[in-house]
Amino acid sequence: MKKLVVGNWKLNPQTVAEAIDLAQATDIEGAVLCPPDIFLMEVGGAIKQAILGAQDLFWKDGAAVTGEASAIQLKDIGVSYVIVGHSSRREKLAETDTLVNLKVKAALTAGLKAILCIGENLDIHQQGEATVRTFIGEQLRKDLDEVKQGENLIVAYEPIWAISTSGTGLVDTPEEAVTIISFIKEELLKIGLSMVLVIYGGSVNSKTADGFLKENIIDGVLVGAASLDAHEFKQIISLS
Ligand code: PGA
Repeated sequence: MKKLVVGNWKLNPQTVAEAIDLAQATDIEGAVLCPPDIFLMEVGGAIKQAILGAQDLFWKDGAAVTGEASAIQLKDIGVSYVIVGHSSRREKLAETDTLVNLKVKAALTAGLKAILCIGENLDIHQQGEATVRTFIGEQLRKDLDEVKQGENLIVAYEPIWAISTSGTGLVDTPEEAVTIISFIKEELLKIGLSMVLVIYGGSVNSKTADGFLKENIIDGVLVGAASLDAHEFKQIISLS
């Protein structure tokens, strides 16, 4: 079975023409493209093989909230996957576990596949594996509180310190990722969630992807910067 390869474009590219070009150049089966909301319709119209994903959602449909998009609205324009709780939102927009939990539940209720991002920061990482496990276990329990079904849930383990824009210059190894992803899978079973795919994210590119993708326990990759380069992203998909 091919593994899941998700491209998180964040706030890129800058124009709709570039977004359409990138979508067409990476329109490959097995790829999930997550452009900014502003380009979702155009990207959705430009792809035939890839699947459309969003980068966030608001948790309540029809709410009196300005500037957001709801699960029903995303579904209606052809979105199948939605990223929830990305570390950039947790850090820069003070998104809490409580909010992330509401968003996961809203996505699943609407029939979207939710890609829940979890992962420790550099400080926790430097305290050692036991501290990382405690942090990840707590994050999973809070973010997945009251979630009963694992089928449409994907957990993306993204150690914050390994994300290309984190500024640490550090990268995770497949061996370290396997250790934490095995732990995540055990924890998910303990909270009654089976069939959850667990993918890895953090500075994945065409040179490093194979190391992660060839590990049986890693169900795919979440790619940021390298998803903006069609050649790089296609290479990664070819390895999946
Ligand atoms: P990166 O981003 O691949 O550029 O490290 C991954 C992410 O933030 O989802």
